[in-house]
Amino acid sequence: MVCLPGGVGEGDVGVGGVGEGTACSGEGGVGEGAACTGEGALGSGEGAFGAGEGAAGAGEARRILLSPPDVGRGERAALLAAFDSNWISTVGPAITRFEEQMAAKLGRPCVALSSGTAAIHLALRLAGVEAGDTVICQSFTFVATANPILYERAIPYFVDSEPRTWNLDADLVEEAIRRLERKGRRPRAVMAVHLYGVPAEIERIASVCARYEVPLIEDAAEALGARVSGRPVGVHGQAAAFSFNGNKIITTAGGGMLAVRNEAEAARVRKWSTQSREAVAHYEHTELGFNYRMSNLLAALGCAQLEGLEAKAERRRAIAERYREELGGPGTLAFQREPEQCRATHWLTCALVHAEGQAGDRRRECRDALIAHLARQGIESRRLWKPMHQQPLFRDAPRLGGTVSESLFAQGICLPSSSALTESEQGMVIDGIRGYFGQRSLDSLARFTRPAIPPRVPDRKKQPT
Ligand SMILES: Cc1ncc(COP(=O)(O)O)c(C=O)c1O
Repeated sequence: MVCLPGGVGEGDVGVGGVGEGTACSGEGGVGEGAACTGEGALGSGEGAFGAGEGAAGAGEARRILLSPPDVGRGERAALLAAFDSNWISTVGPAITRFEEQMAAKLGRPCVALSSGTAAIHLALRLAGVEAGDTVICQSFTFVATANPILYERAIPYFVDSEPRTWNLDADLVEEAIRRLERKGRRPRAVMAVHLYGVPAEIERIASVCARYEVPLIEDAAEALGARVSGRPVGVHGQAAAFSFNGNKIITTAGGGMLAVRNEAEAARVRKWSTQSREAVAHYEHTELGFNYRMSNLLAALGCAQLEGLEAKAERRRAIAERYREELGGPGTLAFQREPEQCRATHWLTCALVHAEGQAGDRRRECRDALIAHLARQGIESRRLWKPMHQQPLFRDAPRLGGTVSESLFAQGICLPSSSALTESEQGMVIDGIRGYFGQRSLDSLARFTRPAIPPRVPDRKKQPT
């Protein structure tokens, strides 16, 4: 059976058609046809090209999406094996295996959860955040970083980014702590994000947090596989959250992981994630719990995906490099850079639109027109995250700075970056952007001969089913 890629909706960054025959052709168990109709069967949600809008249906040209899943036969086999084992539950051997494999990569105990958001929520509880506490939080991020602060009825204090990494500014964190101290308060936690797979200045942030004895939480949802001074992101603070939603560098359809400092903390988080059931024969509960555990089926998918993490990270880096080489320059795009001593994964390749000689408003118009131009060619691109301090939801929250993240939001664009993006698809994106900037339309694929790039990803349409 040959399936049409179904539209997948995520609400934040578009994920898209699942490769032919991946989740679509199982016998009975894995929704035959359900994920194949292009009608949003794998999820709907505004923002992404869900509901069949984004993925190609019969006879249509394939759309080029921002970050569709990169899954194959290994993942399908792992998922079906878990299904056949009948561990169709939030208990099972694949959960333990996935945690162990993540722990081996990070060198820290890990707890598998239902989402990255759940991981951030439990990290805040681990830090002791309670109602009325202040949490210093990077303003330039996706809302899932900040929402769990509200779950605990705490107060987010939004701090701006620095222009080098686009992430939390360590000097402003210190300034924010000092301002709170002058009012006789201290933050209960600091939340730093590694956005788009580019590490924050996490060593500097960690040393500020250590000096003032404030727990540091890393939101590494977008940065699995990134490193700082040779160490993985996610080991610099008290806890770190990772996401495996459908658009991330590896996916479990939906899921998350919390990395913590020791087994005692892991045991607490695991207990909270399973309704805080006490270790007795009957159902005994002494503290509040949550239904946040990852399912065994999804953990099996995660194990299979994790095997390919390094290759996927290298592919995303190569994609970013090619965009930069072929498109970067004055008057066009200025790309987010890999900071020194870091390995960025470039989960999404991002750039600022630099219309030469144009002021802010004109650049914004130029960026919006570029997104519309690409959309007409079936290419998805997106604006960067809107800073939290500009969100109506957080209008009463305190903040420090904001101009850096505001200008990133005003000028920034994310480009298709999936590790499943083929060379020819990337060539189409590059030609689309060149066309927009009025450059000569070149066959960028033919010009693209650098040997350092990892092997081509085969076009999924040509894969046997
Ligand atoms: C920066 C950031 N934080 C947190 C999350 C939340 O992860 P999840 O979607 O798995 O809940 C995401 C992804 O959606 C994210 O991009």
